[in-house]
Amino acid sequence: MMSSDVLILDATSASIRRAAETLRAGGLVALPTETVYGLAADASNVAAVSQVFSVKGRPADHPLIVHLSKEMDLGDWAQDVPEDAYRLAGALWPGPLTLVLKRHRSVLTVVTGGLETIAVRVPAHPVAQRLIEEFGRGVAAPSANRFGRVSPTSAHDVACDLGEEVDLIIDGGPCEIGVESTIVEFGDSEVSILRHGAISVEVLERVLGRRVRVALDGPRRAPGMSQSHYAPATPLELCDQDEVSWRAGEYVSMGLRVGVVSTRSVEVAGTVALWHAAGDVVTFARSLYRWLRQADAAELDVVVVTLPPDEGLGVAVRDRLQRAAHRSE
Ligand code: TXA
Ligand code: MG
Repeated sequence: MMSSDVLILDATSASIRRAAETLRAGGLVALPTETVYGLAADASNVAAVSQVFSVKGRPADHPLIVHLSKEMDLGDWAQDVPEDAYRLAGALWPGPLTLVLKRHRSVLTVVTGGLETIAVRVPAHPVAQRLIEEFGRGVAAPSANRFGRVSPTSAHDVACDLGEEVDLIIDGGPCEIGVESTIVEFGDSEVSILRHGAISVEVLERVLGRRVRVALDGPRRAPGMSQSHYAPATPLELCDQDEVSWRAGEYVSMGLRVGVVSTRSVEVAGTVALWHAAGDVVTFARSLYRWLRQADAAELDVVVVTLPPDEGLGVAVRDRLQRAAHRSE
């Protein structure tokens, strides 16, 4: 439940200065990004970064993403940066793309979960940019949810999950994209996607002029990805758009509290909630986590969800839904 003591501030210049002060003092600030809200700490402060893990309830071997402003130098955080990484950064930063690189020896191992690599991203949200610039150093920022819940896409979601355990929440409005960044890793000879996001395989391949591998669940996957930590509490059942009415209808006839998330508008008598994205995958991605949180809040027995087409942003949405549904099987 949301605590009345949680401090949520509009994204004014004064509150951004205050947030930078909080980070300097070793505190935690929830900040809006274009993907989801992040829980930021000074990436150079061991105690502050450790606090992120304890507030989230996140295992210590799940590394964090370091967020930089456009003006900051990647070379302070990573070494032996491949040409392909510079090419992607040049074309797609600031934006929803995280690069996994060899870590600079000065990077704290608490940030990287003990790995020799570091994940880095330059977020596009103007409030995130201004805050990191004002702070003047990189911030480690996982999604600002409690471990085991879906990522927060509004200041309200953050407050519900973390309450007063976060020193300050900057409200930048609802997140534009709504699913977490695309994560890319560089091998000796190939470039791989570790997590799908708004930057699609096609876009990466266009920038690089070569094939990009998808390696979501292999031995080198992003730690935490194969577990169902993209899942709501409510069980999900995935289906195609043309099946959704009868599937949901079956559950209604069993006396269950049923919700429907669908790509297009549908009519099903007796459902508790109907959410739909009017055929638009951008709206679907932007709204999905909010809908899943609403399903949990309404204590539904099941949500029947239709998958968007397997292309562009739809690939990331399908990926998160498949992970979320896995838990409920
Ligand atoms: O869009 C996003 O990326 C959001 C916003 C706040 O920027 N952040 C986010 O952070 O989703 P988080 O901590 O919830 O997810 C980070 C993912 C995890 O799956 C983690 O395992 C992976 O990034 N990761 C971090 N460092 C890594 C590394 N060195 N190698 C492989 N995967 C890494
Ligand atoms: Mg997360």
